[in-house]
Amino acid sequence: MCGIVGYTGPKQAYPIVLKGLQRLEYRGYDSSGVALLKDGKLSVYKKKGKVAELEQEMLQKDSSAHIGIGHTRWATHGEPSDRNAHPHRSANGRFAMIHNGIIENYAQLKNELVSKGYSFSSDTDTEVLLNFIEHIQTNNNCDVEEALRIALKRVTGAYCILLIDEQDPDTIIAARKGSPLVIGVGKGEHFLASDASPIIEYTKEVVYVNDYELAIVKPDQLILKNLGNEKITPYITTLDMELAAIEKGGYDHFMLKEIFEQPSTIYDCLRGRLDANAGTITMGGIEKNFEQLINANRIMIVACGTSWHAGLVAEYIIEEICRIPVEVEYASEFRYRNPIVNKGDVIIAISQSGETADTLVALEKAKENGAFIFGVVNVVGSSIARISHAGAYTHAGHEIGVASTKAFTGQLAVLMMMALKMAIKKGTITQERYQQLLNELQDVPEKVNAILKNAEELKTIAHKYKDAGDFLFLGRGYNFPIALEGALKLKEISYIHAEGYPAAEMKHGPIALVDEKLPVVFIATKDSYHEKIVSNMQEIKARKGKIISIITQGDHISPTLSDDVFSIPPADELIAPIISVIPLQLLSYYTGIAKGIDVDKPRNLAKSVTVE
Ligand code: AGP
Ligand code: GLU
Repeated sequence: MCGIVGYTGPKQAYPIVLKGLQRLEYRGYDSSGVALLKDGKLSVYKKKGKVAELEQEMLQKDSSAHIGIGHTRWATHGEPSDRNAHPHRSANGRFAMIHNGIIENYAQLKNELVSKGYSFSSDTDTEVLLNFIEHIQTNNNCDVEEALRIALKRVTGAYCILLIDEQDPDTIIAARKGSPLVIGVGKGEHFLASDASPIIEYTKEVVYVNDYELAIVKPDQLILKNLGNEKITPYITTLDMELAAIEKGGYDHFMLKEIFEQPSTIYDCLRGRLDANAGTITMGGIEKNFEQLINANRIMIVACGTSWHAGLVAEYIIEEICRIPVEVEYASEFRYRNPIVNKGDVIIAISQSGETADTLVALEKAKENGAFIFGVVNVVGSSIARISHAGAYTHAGHEIGVASTKAFTGQLAVLMMMALKMAIKKGTITQERYQQLLNELQDVPEKVNAILKNAEELKTIAHKYKDAGDFLFLGRGYNFPIALEGALKLKEISYIHAEGYPAAEMKHGPIALVDEKLPVVFIATKDSYHEKIVSNMQEIKARKGKIISIITQGDHISPTLSDDVFSIPPADELIAPIISVIPLQLLSYYTGIAKGIDVDKPRNLAKSVTVE
């Protein structure tokens, strides 16, 4: 994973790199470091912990160089520590390099280098690659670029690397395969980063570097080449993103800001697509591929984490209204279990970042087998968006908090529109039901707004249960995936162990956990399962569990069984998940805060998991 930043130009590099690392910290925060090159002298500073630690360390240092690279790490090889922090320096000290990804054959390369007398000062795969490059360069007496090309042909795994050379005062060499790289093109200056957020305030002109490309970047020159040393014309695109979108805007945390943005992000997602008055949904990616989609033998949904939960909701909805069989797969399992994928199968890939390595490699495999890939992605121009045959963006804006919130509701809104559009075309839904769901979907932003007005109630509930050791989340039908999502959110940002279950399945095992200390969250909105879930509440109450229930306004039965309730506006059961998840996001947020956890950067996690 990790975030990388580089700058070469007339300005001082360090402040730009530091600010960039702060913006990219969502990608990893085990350690950070910078390499600066000034007057032919390369200096490397690095520190375990968050970027703020590095900033402290740098206060007394000369940081006036005009070229620099920086890294914020999510450790894969070697514990988080100063010595494993990037940038790494090659054995002869000439090169400094940062890396995002995993060099899978590092052990073999390391053995080769050890037999040639190399020793290593870190446990990382990165240092192995760097010394491998150095070895080729000195052995062949060639330039760095050539050494890099030779080295990368031997490497398996994923990388985005930035390298600076003490003997080349203003050049950054970059290469990528599988991990993202964006280059900002300024006037007489260039910026390099894992995503556009470190670049946006300096220039909106960017080049997305592709896999197997090498970039030679000087202040006034950007050369792109493939690994065969042929030049490629850089394709410059203009960023459609504002600085305000990546700042906290008065909220204490990005997560809270993102939860509260949902009325407008869901609205943005529906805007220009859903027209309830006209009874239409406009989605170019679907219209152009109708035949493929509605005649699919089956649909496979491939995703991870929260996006996988959105996939489960979509499974229920697509099967219900489109009558197409759907399977929802963890991308990491799908990739390696030799799945049966045939021509005529449709894969829906769901991803906020569009860079999740597990999802990306799963798609590459399915694409090779002839599947049609439809991407539901938030980050415009990301790898998953580009590998897909067609898609629909969620338009949730930049999501920075590690715990996904607004991207999830955006995914649900897109998937709902997709299902409706396919169902009406296929003739598997009545016009009346279709119109009813369009109207309901249109009302979602308002209902979410109403929930957010009562956020303080969830703060009180969070304080009451913050010291619990475990939580159970139960839901049925369309709300079952929301129970899973509620449990994942709570685990991520409060470190409380939590499990999500279909409410009825609880009696087949988890009920053994219930005692007077166990909080059980029921997502018990009014739907066709309501009476059944009320019985499940009775079963928990009979065993003295503490019941927190998310109910539909006007429900008088559930409160009599609950210790705490939170009411949400009524909604059709197919639409309910988009609104019933909001209180669970808030419950997790307030629990994390009550426990003093850095909810935007919880331990061990990173926003986009770009390693397998
Ligand atoms: C969500 O809160 C998580 N941090 C995580 O499960 C995430 O949803 C998962 O890693 C998938 O990411 P993606 O949507 O960017 O592909
Ligand atoms: N594999 C490298 C390491 O462990 C880089 C990991 C990352 O992408 O953050 O340091």
